[in-house]
Amino acid sequence: MPSSSIQDRSTMITTDLEIFADSFAKDVDRGLRQTPKNIPCIYFYDYQGSLLFEKICRLEEYYLTRAETEILKTFSEDIVSCLPTDLVLVELGSGSCIKTQLIIEELLNQHDKVTYSPIDISKKMLKESSISLLEQYEDLEIISIAAEYEEGLRQIDMRDERPKLILWLGSSIGNFEQQEAIRFLQNTVKTLSSQDYLLIGFDLIKERRALEQAYNDNQYVTATFNLNLLSRINRELGGEFDPNTFRHKAVYNEENSRIEMYLISTCEQDVYIADLDRSYHFKKNERIHTENSHKFSLQAIDQLADEVGMEIIKQWFDTKRYFNVTLFQPHKEKSLLK
Ligand code: AVJ
Repeated sequence: MPSSSIQDRSTMITTDLEIFADSFAKDVDRGLRQTPKNIPCIYFYDYQGSLLFEKICRLEEYYLTRAETEILKTFSEDIVSCLPTDLVLVELGSGSCIKTQLIIEELLNQHDKVTYSPIDISKKMLKESSISLLEQYEDLEIISIAAEYEEGLRQIDMRDERPKLILWLGSSIGNFEQQEAIRFLQNTVKTLSSQDYLLIGFDLIKERRALEQAYNDNQYVTATFNLNLLSRINRELGGEFDPNTFRHKAVYNEENSRIEMYLISTCEQDVYIADLDRSYHFKKNERIHTENSHKFSLQAIDQLADEVGMEIIKQWFDTKRYFNVTLFQPHKEKSLLK
């Protein structure tokens, strides 16, 4: 049978991302009025920011991507053999598709056809990555969903009855506060059946040096990624930030097992943002908190599984044990209650 065209194998579902665009202005205003100042890290990922993040993933210092890729390369056969056939692969954040590709390739090795549903807030990223995947794999169908995680998951639920594997790679879960992660996973588990699976990547706790280097690279890519937030405010909200008057800083907070990223004003200044019709005052050395990236212990992963009603099916590690990929399934008893 001739394979169908790329167009026939791809669909894009768009949700109301305008609400999201609106919240950028609101969240910037709210965050810059608070002490200490903050901007939610979800706003890193406009198109520019997504490209910079992909560059981070190729850095020598940023071991996370390499460690996770090593795990997926070494164990994809084992991972896929734990899963049922004819499943829908859902991914939270379409991100760097190299890692996803390892899973897709192995799924196609073991099964005939695969449906892949990436959920991402950048439509442009979704389009680009799906074209490249569809060109490479004839038996792949892609249903892209331009949405935030929770809305995106709702879209999928309504449309498909096959078992699902939800991929959440790259330790993106680390951006959530513990309670937020629990709440989000609890809600996700509620929408899943006991035949579904979750595969989550966790960055593990390790010595401070390796952690801090990963977020303070020599080429200044992470700094540019962090500072892009200010350029984005300039581009989208008519801000007048001079990114040269801010510097990037990332430190490991051991007590809370997390990397914290900041933008620090190198001088006292007022910055006007036209769309918010307001100036924001910065003292010299005043910081904007832009990201938390939590690191996990195996015990914390066990506890998370417990709290959200999931069972750990299997775990995989890289040789350095810097990173962990865990396969979860909703507890059978709990999902019967649905
Ligand atoms: C995409 C959230 C996993 O925390 O390591 C990379 C984002 N920030 N360098 C991380 C990030 C700075 C990344 N996550």
